[in-house]
Amino acid sequence: MKVDDINSITVLGAGNMGHGIAEVAALAGYNVVLRDIKEEFVQKGYDQIEWSLNKLAEKDRLSQEDADAALDRVTAVVDLGEAVSDADVVIEAVPEKMAIKKDVYTELEAHAPEHTVFATNTSSLSITELSEVTERPERFCGMHFFNPPVRMDLVEVISGAHTDDETLDVIEDLAEEMGKTPVRVRKDSPGFIVNRILVPLMNEAAWTVHAGDATIAEVDSTTKYDLGLPMGSFELADQVGIDVGYHVLEYMHEVLGDAYAPCPLLSEKVEEETLGKKTGKGFYDYEDGEGAQIP
Ligand code: 3HC
Repeated sequence: MKVDDINSITVLGAGNMGHGIAEVAALAGYNVVLRDIKEEFVQKGYDQIEWSLNKLAEKDRLSQEDADAALDRVTAVVDLGEAVSDADVVIEAVPEKMAIKKDVYTELEAHAPEHTVFATNTSSLSITELSEVTERPERFCGMHFFNPPVRMDLVEVISGAHTDDETLDVIEDLAEEMGKTPVRVRKDSPGFIVNRILVPLMNEAAWTVHAGDATIAEVDSTTKYDLGLPMGSFELADQVGIDVGYHVLEYMHEVLGDAYAPCPLLSEKVEEETLGKKTGKGFYDYEDGEGAQIP
């Protein structure tokens, strides 16, 4: 398959990343099916795409006409068979748990057309292991976007042990069609490149506060004003979802060892379900609609 053969893209999972990826694909002119397991989830994702497109138009990043046209290209669907019947590429962005993703791929394999390329947006999990539950491991790779997808330029295109070059080429070309800069990741190691570096930074920030060595505000000020990142470490954890960072660390801990043990400050937030911006509260409070406020 060549990139010009791609007309229809299905995104599985309408959460934080899924709806953002669907938006990026629709903005690039593709017909997009956004699928989640419940009507309320898929509707919420669709509403978030609408919010984001209107916000981009409001900020003059695109015209209202283009925003409306992109939204028209998105269809929200619950039934998996219906969602993938015309898909040339499926981008999977379901929760960051190996067992959940494997179940999704087993079900997907039963419904997807033979030519369809599978790309996973996993943040850390083994592409090779996921690909092996399908019957097309050579047409399976990682396509890892960053949060928020509509604003972040980079896409990691990750090869599993069985991925063929044609698949990597077409997914890299697709990322470029979406206006992104792809970087090819040759080694399928936990967290790939970005999260191998960035998620431990968030974890170390949490350990620093957990030990009582600094406050959240102090750590975030140094991350922003000395390290020069656009967001503080805790702001970033809230942006990506504390649960996402936590699951990445759990996996890196399991595979790479104790240096990646997640800080209890993160697990407490996961247990409380205060997961960051998406729940209105994480390390900061977003509930009053005025951006990050220290609780
Ligand atoms: N769509 C449209 N608008 C959005 C948006 C979205 N998805 N998200 C935020 N905005 C809006 C905000 O509501 C705000 O609007 P307002 O001014 O009316 O309140 C506006 O964008 C802010 O935009 P600005 O350009 O003024 O702000 P910034 O210059 O701060 O840029 C940013 C925002 C691009 C998010 C920037 O802060 C940034 O780059 N942050 C770092 C994000 C990052 O590193 N992401 C990667 C995380 S790792 C990851 O995702 C991997 C995963 O696997 C864990």
